[in-house]
Amino acid sequence: MKYIVTSALPYANGKLHVGHVAGAYLPADIFVRYLRLKGEDVIYICGTDEHGTPISISADKAGIQPIEVVKHYHDSIKAAFDGIGIEFDNFSGTARPEHYEQAQQFFSDLFANGHIKAKTTKQFYCQHDARYLPDRYVEGICPKCDSPGARGDQCDKCGQTYETTLLKSPKCKICGHEPEIRETKHWFIQLEHFTDQLTQWIAQKDYWKENVRNFMLNLLEQGLIERSITRDLSWGVPVPLPDTEGKVLYVWFDAPIGYISSTIEWAQKIGKPELWKDYWLDPDTRMVHFIGKDNIIFHALIWPAMLMGQNTPYCLPHDIPANEFMNLEGDKISTSRNWAIWVDEFVQDFDGEYLRYYLAANAPERQDADFNFKDFQLKINGELNNVLGNLGHRVFSFAALNFDSIIEQVSLDEAAQAVLTQADLTMAEIAASYEDYQVKRSTRLIMEMARSGNRFFEEQKPWLHVKTDKEKVKQTLWVCAALLQRISVALSPILPKHMKALRQMMSLPDLLKWDDAYAQRDFRLSEFKPLLKKIEDEAIQEQLDKLHTKANDKPQKTYVPVKEQITFEEFSALDLRLARILEAKPVPKTDKLLHLKVDLGFEQRELVAGIAQSYKAEELIGKTVTMLVNLQPRKIRGVVSNGMILAAHDEDGLHVVLSDGGSPGSPVQ
Ligand code: 2FM
Ligand code: ZN
Repeated sequence: MKYIVTSALPYANGKLHVGHVAGAYLPADIFVRYLRLKGEDVIYICGTDEHGTPISISADKAGIQPIEVVKHYHDSIKAAFDGIGIEFDNFSGTARPEHYEQAQQFFSDLFANGHIKAKTTKQFYCQHDARYLPDRYVEGICPKCDSPGARGDQCDKCGQTYETTLLKSPKCKICGHEPEIRETKHWFIQLEHFTDQLTQWIAQKDYWKENVRNFMLNLLEQGLIERSITRDLSWGVPVPLPDTEGKVLYVWFDAPIGYISSTIEWAQKIGKPELWKDYWLDPDTRMVHFIGKDNIIFHALIWPAMLMGQNTPYCLPHDIPANEFMNLEGDKISTSRNWAIWVDEFVQDFDGEYLRYYLAANAPERQDADFNFKDFQLKINGELNNVLGNLGHRVFSFAALNFDSIIEQVSLDEAAQAVLTQADLTMAEIAASYEDYQVKRSTRLIMEMARSGNRFFEEQKPWLHVKTDKEKVKQTLWVCAALLQRISVALSPILPKHMKALRQMMSLPDLLKWDDAYAQRDFRLSEFKPLLKKIEDEAIQEQLDKLHTKANDKPQKTYVPVKEQITFEEFSALDLRLARILEAKPVPKTDKLLHLKVDLGFEQRELVAGIAQSYKAEELIGKTVTMLVNLQPRKIRGVVSNGMILAAHDEDGLHVVLSDGGSPGSPVQ
C-alpha cells in the first residue's frame, strides 16, 4: 500500500509551539514511523505556508519584504522540528516558483472546467495607503458579537462570518484610518458543482473521525455555496488570467497544493523526478492529512473539490484525522500573550523525546488536552523512569551480575508463556491503535506491557532462586528481555532515539520491523545506561516561573515623561468646564480636524478639534466633554477656535474625556 502522509503546512509567520506539535505534527510523524515498521511505502510531506495577510503585515511592520519573514520562520520552524525528531521526507515552502506553477495550474483547470466564476464584490479600501484591505488588513467590531479585533469578514471571537460591509468601526491595520468600501473583481470557486461527487465520496468515509465526518455532512446538508479564492494583494500567487494585476490566489487556495509541489520537489531532490506521480496519480494511494480542528473545512471540503475539478486524476484524501487543541496550564495557548511553550526553547532544557512522550501520552485526540508541567514531570518520572527504566535496569543488572549479560533462550513454563501471550495480544492492540491514530492508547498499552514485566519479575523473585534454580531465573530474565524487545519496537514511533539506544544496549539490529519484535533469540546485553533522567522539582518550577514571567512580559508601552511639578495655584489657573457638543462637521480639506459648536450653559462657542481620525462628526453630537475655556483663541483654517477639548491619546488614537453626568458649564476641578 502506498501512503502520502501530510501535516498542515505551518504559517511561516511565527515560531513552533507545543500546541502545533501536539495537533498536526507529532501524530503524523508517529503514524509514519509506525507504517514504516509495518513495511508500508510512505512519504511524509510538509513545508511552510508562506502566503496570507499575517505574513505581509509582519513584513510591513518590520519594513522588510514578506520573503524575508518567510525565510526566517521557515528555518526556525524546521530547526524546531529537527529538535524533536519530526522527520519529513520533504519540507518545502509555498513561495517557490514550482509551487506557483502548480497553484496556477490548479486555478486554470478549475477555470477552464467552468468551476470558477468572476464577480464584482465590495472590499475595504484605504485611501491613505491607496490599497485594498483584505482579511487581516482591516479590523473592527464584530457585527455579530460586538467583540473588538474582528477581521474584514470573520470574527475570531465568535467564529462567525459576515458581509464585509457589516463590520463596525473598521480601521486600516496599517495606518488606522477608516477605510471606504470599493468595488473590486474577484474569483469564486463554485463548490455547489461538486455536491453530488462530494456526497458520494463522503458516503464511503464511515471510518473517519466522527467530528470530521459530521462536519462535512452538516455542510452538505446546509448546501454548498461559492467561495472567494482571490485577494487584492501583492504577496501571493498571481491569478493566471489576463488583466489581473494586483490579484493573487487566496492563501487557503494555494496552501494545500503545497502538498503536491512539495512532493514534486522531493522527487526531484532524490533524482527521480517522475516518482511523485506514483503516489499522487494512483487512485489507491492512501493520502492522510493530519490537521488541527480549525482546518477541517479546507481539507475535507474545499481541497477535495479542488482536486475533483482537475484534469489530472489526483488521488483524493483517504483520511483526515483532525485533532483537538492543546491548552497550557489550564489556559488557551496564545502567541500574542506569550502563553506558549516554544519548542526551540524547550529542547534547550529537556530532551526532545520527553516532549514527544508527554504529547503522545496526553494527545488531544478526542477532546482538548492540557499541557501541565507537573503532569509532564509525573509522566516522565512515573512512567518512563519508574516503569520502563526500572524494568530495563533490573533485567540488565541482574543479567550482568549472574549471567555475564547473556540471556539465553529457554523453554517457558505456563506462567511465563502467559505473560508473553498477553504481551502479543497487547502488541496487536497497540498496532490497531496506531492505525487508528490513537497514540494516547498506544502509549498506555506499551506502559502496561512494561508493568507486566515488572510484575512478573517481582512474582518470580529471581534473587531468591539464583543459586538454586538457575533455569527458572533464566526464564524470568528471558521473558523480561523479550518484553523489552517488543517495547523497543512498539515505542519507537514515539521515542525513536531512545528505543534505538535500547536496541543497541541489547545488541539488537538498529532497524527492527514490527514483526521482528517477536523474534526468539538469545539476548546479549551491554551496560545499561539509564534511558531518561528524572525531572527534578526545581526544573519544573523554573519552567513555570519562566512561563509566567514571560507571559506578563507584555510589549513595553512607552509613556510620556511626567512634566515638572506645578503649584495648586498654577493648576487653578486652568478653567476647565463641561461642554455639550451641539454641532460637529469636518473642516474642509483636512482629515484631522472637526469644527465643533458647544454649549457651555452660560454661552455657546465654536472651536476646532484635531480628533477627526478617531471620531466621526455625527457620533460626537450630544456628548458632554471636558473643555479648557480660558485658552487664548486662535485661528485654525479660517475658524476662530475658542477653547480646547480634552482627549487622551494612545496607540489606538484619541479618546475624548467624557463626563458621566453634570450640566454644561459646570467647573471641572
Ligand atoms: O492553519 C494553518 O496553520 C495553515 N497554515 C494550514 C495550512 S494546511 C494546508 F492546506 F496547507
Ligand atoms: Zn491605511
